[in-house]
Amino acid sequence: MAIGVGLLGLGTVGAGVAAILTSPEGRHPLVGALDLKKVAVRDPGRVRPVSLPAEVITTDPEAVVDDPAVEIVVEVMGGLEPARSLILRAIAAGKPVVTANKSVIARHGEEIAAAAAERGVYVLIEAAVGGGIPIIEPLKQSLGGNRIQRVSGIINGTTNYILSRMADEGAAYGAVLADAQRLGYAEADPAADVEGHDAADKIAILAGLAYGGPVPRAAIPTEGIDRLEARDVAYAAQLGFVVKLLAVAQRIGDPDDAGVQALDVRVHPTLLPVDHPLAGVNGVNNAILVEGDPVGRVMFYGPGAGAGPTASAVVADILNIAGIRQVGGPQAGLDPLLAASSWRRCALVEGALTSHRNYVRFRTHDQPGVIGQIGTAFGSAGVSIQSIVQLECDGGAAEIVVITHDVQEARFREALAAIEAHPEVLTVAASLRTL
Ligand SMILES: NC(=O)c1ccc[n+]([C@@H]2O[C@H](COP(=O)([O-])OP(=O)(O)OC[C@H]3O[C@@H](n4cnc5c(N)ncnc54)[C@H](OP(=O)(O)O)[C@@H]3O)[C@@H](O)[C@H]2O)c1
Repeated sequence: MAIGVGLLGLGTVGAGVAAILTSPEGRHPLVGALDLKKVAVRDPGRVRPVSLPAEVITTDPEAVVDDPAVEIVVEVMGGLEPARSLILRAIAAGKPVVTANKSVIARHGEEIAAAAAERGVYVLIEAAVGGGIPIIEPLKQSLGGNRIQRVSGIINGTTNYILSRMADEGAAYGAVLADAQRLGYAEADPAADVEGHDAADKIAILAGLAYGGPVPRAAIPTEGIDRLEARDVAYAAQLGFVVKLLAVAQRIGDPDDAGVQALDVRVHPTLLPVDHPLAGVNGVNNAILVEGDPVGRVMFYGPGAGAGPTASAVVADILNIAGIRQVGGPQAGLDPLLAASSWRRCALVEGALTSHRNYVRFRTHDQPGVIGQIGTAFGSAGVSIQSIVQLECDGGAAEIVVITHDVQEARFREALAAIEAHPEVLTVAASLRTL
């Protein structure tokens, strides 16, 4: 029995999906049952890597959702609107939805999940995080028996490409970004990637699944790589670390009496010890490390974007829905694991109360005794130091780098402010988290 599919968008991902659906040979037999009925685009005259019959193409996305022959709606157009409204329109019509749209899910996931639960349809989002890497379904289903301690990931390929090249070539951020744009690895407007917002969308989604309740996307502290200096990448390497844009979601203690789980969720450039499992993830690849009890550490690694990998994830979701349809549909109600119904409330802890290791670079006057003064100042503020080294000096100024042990953010900031007030200290030139 054929199952009608409607595509909203035929760009990078949409064309990848259409390519799979129109060449079912050698794939799971269910792919052959999927029939691409209608496809919405903005510009029907655009030349595309996949050729479809003209009557399938429309410029009216609502016509795709409303077409009675379309039984599964696949949203791969991107942006917040009209994507959000079209997803809700499909749900209201009782049609399951597959989407790759992390921005919509990170911001409107609760509204969409509530509408889907009420109407009894699935909304599946495997492609929204990690491109071709299966991570959504593993978090929802395969790892469901665990208490998740931490989810940390390199989940933005553009920034990982830039950081890998900065580390390999000692190149400056701006020069590598310009080259990445020329090569098509970075958008003309790179803000969402380099300022960390794309990674924040994705970790909001992963945290919501790992901890069983929605996470307030707007409250996630987010710092990108756009102010990272090549010399910090080089100093990190000298000290045995690599710098990665890390997205982290971590549980803090047990749920409170009201059942609310406190979480530390954040995105920032992070120094990883070279032997950390995520340290060797380079170029446009993504990886997500899940730490759970009792499974231990599980790492998911692979291509985080691109037409083929992302389409692989979209089609997996379509097949999940098609499989359920083949056995008569979700008559007895939605499977709570596949539907990812929330089962707990989560709240973010205040950043000042979280604890981390830190890397700090001071620029100081090149005078004897400055290292000792900085060490003493950290000590008297209760910040314990793992290492303190002078790495360079030029024109009478010295560069002193400190790696701290775990310290509460508020205490660390107080110590930095006190040290910055010393007359020998010119400035706190960089401050990064260290794992
Ligand atoms: N690209 C990736 O590697 C990747 C990876 C993971 C997730 N995603 C997500 O997948 C989604 C799609 O990304 P993409 O890279 O495929 O984007 P894209 O190449 O820009 O494609 C967007 C498609 O949607 C169509 N479209 C946009 N607005 C429309 C409207 N109002 N009416 C009708 N058609 C409209 C465009 O039509 P025209 O072709 O006529 O302009 C185009 O075909 C986004 O949510 C993105 O975040 C992408």
